[in-house]
This record gives sequence, C-alpha cells and structure tokens, in this order.
Amino acid sequence: MSHALTAISADTKADFYATLHRQLEAVLHGERDWTANLAQTSALLMQLLPGLNWAGFYLLKGGELVLGPFQGKVACVRIAVGQGVCGIAAARRETVVVPDVHQFPGHIACDGASNSEIVVPLLHQGKLLGVLDLDSPKRARFDADDARGLERAVEILLAASDAA
Ligand code: SME
Repeated sequence: MSHALTAISADTKADFYATLHRQLEAVLHGERDWTANLAQTSALLMQLLPGLNWAGFYLLKGGELVLGPFQGKVACVRIAVGQGVCGIAAARRETVVVPDVHQFPGHIACDGASNSEIVVPLLHQGKLLGVLDLDSPKRARFDADDARGLERAVEILLAASDAA
C-alpha cells in the first residue's frame, strides 16, 4: 500500500493535528510491528510538521534511553533517565516543552541547529517504554497545543502496535 502524504493546510493547530492523526492512523493501519510503526511515525512527523530538524524515539532498555528509529542527523545513542530533556521527561513521565534549549540546564546538544524541543513519554498501560523527541531550529516552536496533539499521536502509535 502506498501513502502519499500531502502537506496539511489548517487554520488552527487543533485542525492541523486532527488531520495529522487521521494520516497517522492510515499509515499504521494493518501493521502492528513496533519497530516499523516507530519508523513510520518518525517519518510522518518529520514530513508533516513544519520546521523540524529531528524527529524520533529513544526506547527504555536496561534502565536507560537508547536511540530508536528517527529522522535527522546522527544523534547521541544513550541517555540516562533524569539527564537531558529526554531523560527528564522519562523520569517525570510527562511531556516537557523547552522553548529555548540554550536556557535549559542539562540539555544534551545533538544537532547544533536545534533551538527548541518537545519530549513526550511513551506510556503503555502504566509502563514507560521510551520517549518521542522533536527538535526545531526555531525558538519556541512547540506549545501546549503541540503537546496535546503529539500526546494523542503517541496514543495512536501505541494502540496500533505490539510494543516490544
Ligand atoms: N536534546 C536531547 C537529546 C536528544 S537529541 O535532541 C536528538 C536531550 O536533551 O535529551
């Protein structure tokens, strides 16, 4: 099956994410493989969300976050829970929005172009599986509407997959 993603034109972020969620459901439909669905989700987010330079996953393995499927430049592979934006979102089990990564103590710089970041935990039946991480060269690229929209995207991904 082919999935030709088209740019989303929407008046509000709520409308934008409603369309993105439909496209994500269509892309993941009929496939439950966790790695494949993580890879497709990172690609879809990179294609549809304007102004990103990195979109991908870190998965909890042996008590630390390990790089998973992503789109963007090569990144750091292992992040301790509690370290960096990813590790803090994992430790808190909640979404962290960072308008300016240069003002965030402990931020781990992977791509020097990144200026803002959002990290959403992957929580499945109360268990932390990892995090979704998006970076942007634009300051304050992400707000509460993005947090809500991306949390819903993560729910769609988890519901569509047999998470390993
Ligand atoms: N900036 C992240 C590290 C991962 S890269 O952005 C891909 C952090 O501080 O956890």
